[in-house]
Amino acid sequence: MSKLQGDPSLTSAGGVQTPTSLDPADWAQFREAAHRMLDDTIDHIANIRDNPVWRPMPGETRARFAQPLPTKPRDLGCVLDDVRAHIFPYATGNLHPLFMGWVHGAGTPIGMVAELVAAGLNMNCGGRDHVGIEVEKQIVRWMSEALGYPASSSGLFVTGSSMANFLAVTIAKTEALGASVRQSGLRNAEQQLVAYTSSEAHICIAQAMQLSGIGSANLRSIAVDALGRMRPDALCAAIDEDRALGLLPFLVVGTAGTVNTGAIDPLADIATVAGREKIWFHVDGAIGALGMLSSSMRELFSGIEQSASVALDFHKWGHVPYDAGFLLVRDSAAQKRAFAQPAAYLQRSDRGLAAGETWPCDLGPDLSRGFRALKTWMTMESLGTERMGNSIAHTCELARYLSDKIACDPRFEIKAPVALNIVCFGIRGADAEFTRNLVLDLHEQGVAVPSWTTVNGELAVRCAIVNHRTSKADIDTFVNILVDYLA
Ligand SMILES: Cc1ncc(COP(=O)(O)O)c(C=O)c1O
Repeated sequence: MSKLQGDPSLTSAGGVQTPTSLDPADWAQFREAAHRMLDDTIDHIANIRDNPVWRPMPGETRARFAQPLPTKPRDLGCVLDDVRAHIFPYATGNLHPLFMGWVHGAGTPIGMVAELVAAGLNMNCGGRDHVGIEVEKQIVRWMSEALGYPASSSGLFVTGSSMANFLAVTIAKTEALGASVRQSGLRNAEQQLVAYTSSEAHICIAQAMQLSGIGSANLRSIAVDALGRMRPDALCAAIDEDRALGLLPFLVVGTAGTVNTGAIDPLADIATVAGREKIWFHVDGAIGALGMLSSSMRELFSGIEQSASVALDFHKWGHVPYDAGFLLVRDSAAQKRAFAQPAAYLQRSDRGLAAGETWPCDLGPDLSRGFRALKTWMTMESLGTERMGNSIAHTCELARYLSDKIACDPRFEIKAPVALNIVCFGIRGADAEFTRNLVLDLHEQGVAVPSWTTVNGELAVRCAIVNHRTSKADIDTFVNILVDYLA
């Protein structure tokens, strides 16, 4: 044994432990407890239909997590028993096929295994020359291929699309004002930046404008048509107006699947306007962009391939476990110009662990980063994009099925056209109070989890069918639940 490999009595997994190590004293015992926990988690997923979709936490559980700092160790078996008693039963519920609230992915068993492996390896994917960086680059190339971007594009895993959209605003700002804005700040800008998005855009776009220092008052809310899609004529008029005022249009954000109704902006038309006006065209594809994996849906997103950047979420329609947001950028140099920072302790080399020219920390604000790419790679590699795309298309079929059932029942009314997988409906003659109570009662009964939104000024029940486990029979069950509630 070479001296460089160290003293086995201090490092061997089954052997002697350093006194201050945090590893288990008894690996065999740990292995058994961990295997049991894995089995319990698999059972939780496999038997998800046997449980309520959601249940409120009892006081005992809230009290369990209101205890003082644990200064002394506790037996792992007892800790895991707490997980079984207090964590498993009170999860969000999004694994269940009758969960249709907000926009939640359902996860997959393979994603769970990937999380376990990633935690075991505990890699820091901010940079350096290791396989985590290669896997992330693989996802960048795959998404470039799927979305019609050039192979030279760059990309980055982030928490979610809120963060990906913020990064896109930051890149567009830096491109508009030049990289010196990173030092000088916005006060020295000669012109006021203005951005454009539809009145149906997600609120995180306004938040991104706030966080970037530009201010959400400088985000124009462009009118939508009857289908909830941005009107290109209104976009052009707003840009003309701002130019006439001496302002600097720098960014238009189109949405591929709006949060309220799933509407898809006319991305090709917006691309034409952005090209003519020389402004950054970003697509918020949090909900819809992965629809590009379905051959039957790809056409809906025509124009996305002309954008400058796309935000998307693998944790929604891709069912990669939370969190797995992603930003794809056509011009890799632009992404780097917005974020890369020289630092003595991060200098690169042409060999060793410090090798590599561009590290993920050059492409976004995070330096320490987990291995989100692994769960995405394992999901895509093991399922294949055709199967994922078919599952996505199926949720849209289910949304149409639900919408048809609702539409032909005089007790209900459809509140918005169904573009993708989101159905908004009301109860005829019911006021907002009744609708709120209906949604909350279904939650508390544990039978189904829809959510709500406001459509044309009225509160509507909103079902986003994202879950790959949801079937036609589940939709029938859901409608029966509604009918029983109204009886
Ligand atoms: C259209 C749209 N954009 C952005 C977001 C924010 O995504 P995340 O929750 O991953 O930050 C959402 C979330 O539902 C969304 O629907």
